[in-house]
Amino acid sequence: MHQHHSAHGLIQALSPIEPVTLVRPHAARRAARFFIERFPGTTMYAVKANPSPDLLRLLWDSGVTHYDVASIAEVRLVARTLPRATLCFMHPVKAEEAIAEAYWQHGVRTFSLDTMEELEKIVRATRNAADLNLLVRLRVSSDHSKLSLAAKFGAEPDEVAELLMATRQAADALGICFHVGSQAMTPHAYAQAMERVRAAIVAASVTVDIVDVGGGFPSSYPGMEPPPLDAYFDTIHRSFESLPISYSAELWCEPGRALSAEYSSLIVRVEKRRGDELYINDGAYGALFDAAHVGWRFPVTLLRDAASEELAAFSFYGPTCDDLDHMAGPFYLPADVKPGDFIEIGMLGAYGCAMRTKFNGFGAEEIHVVSDEPMTSLYTGEVEPERRTATVTKLF
Ligand SMILES: Cc1ncc(COP(=O)(O)O)c(C=O)c1O
Repeated sequence: MHQHHSAHGLIQALSPIEPVTLVRPHAARRAARFFIERFPGTTMYAVKANPSPDLLRLLWDSGVTHYDVASIAEVRLVARTLPRATLCFMHPVKAEEAIAEAYWQHGVRTFSLDTMEELEKIVRATRNAADLNLLVRLRVSSDHSKLSLAAKFGAEPDEVAELLMATRQAADALGICFHVGSQAMTPHAYAQAMERVRAAIVAASVTVDIVDVGGGFPSSYPGMEPPPLDAYFDTIHRSFESLPISYSAELWCEPGRALSAEYSSLIVRVEKRRGDELYINDGAYGALFDAAHVGWRFPVTLLRDAASEELAAFSFYGPTCDDLDHMAGPFYLPADVKPGDFIEIGMLGAYGCAMRTKFNGFGAEEIHVVSDEPMTSLYTGEVEPERRTATVTKLF
């Protein structure tokens, strides 16, 4: 196992020609503890954000016992990695075979749905089981979020009463869930969605046992600095307390990004410079899908001493032969960045490393554990990259 004092040390020792993923177990632990100690209900981790078994074990060890899984492969992965975890199958459109395998082979008892057809599938696949937790997903606005999840899923107001009443008949515990969109920039997003929950409960006159506010909790990125997470928790708690639900009703959440974003960053090498365009060795088909396709701006730092003090705006090209492999940024780096330089790209623990493909022969993954702070954090406040010190341990 290799040990390095710093990310700079790693580069000097290895001069890696492939991208290197750095993982920060302490950052994931801190995020998990924050949710476990301060969210006023049960925290489930949304596995899709980063399904790394190491991360799953870290979260489990930090007290996260519930996992939002959205495919049968995720069900199998978590069941295998964390045999005592509680799995909740929160994709509202599932294969009937997947529901049956989840229920009969992996002990899954919690499912979401947004149509009568899905309810019928669940009832058939579980053979009218009497121990189901069924959560009806409402369609809510994504207006306050950076990535919309408003188009695809969720029952509309005019169909929800009937669906809630029918689901009540089939469920041991009845829940309502929603997703306000990813990277919700204000707690108001949740307050608004909770009003939809209230209207649905009133319209259906059913007893609701679970309210699940979904994911959407933000992380900190350039140009996207959200309010503190406690403000989100306070708003959610107040809205929950005012709902017409039983005293014993449970509050759940399903963060993906907020629990995993700070876990990973990436070291890439500059292979070519053309004006303000840098050709780097990871991109749209690697860990930078969101940077390419939704213009997400991740924090960057040049891993070189004695670089220019003047910063300039750069865009990136990834390594494949595809024009789409382009990350517009702007990414601010010292003006004299040049081929052979290494750049660290931060906050790739959520929807970064998980999106990697091997297209065009790229996508090899070497992982090192580091002990320094992430480039930005919602849990500590921002950290100056220059002042960070790192210990690096080679993992793979
Ligand atoms: C059902 C569900 N829950 C939770 C999440 C996690 O969302 P986030 O990463 O924004 O917290 C997602 C993301 O797509 C989702 O679809």
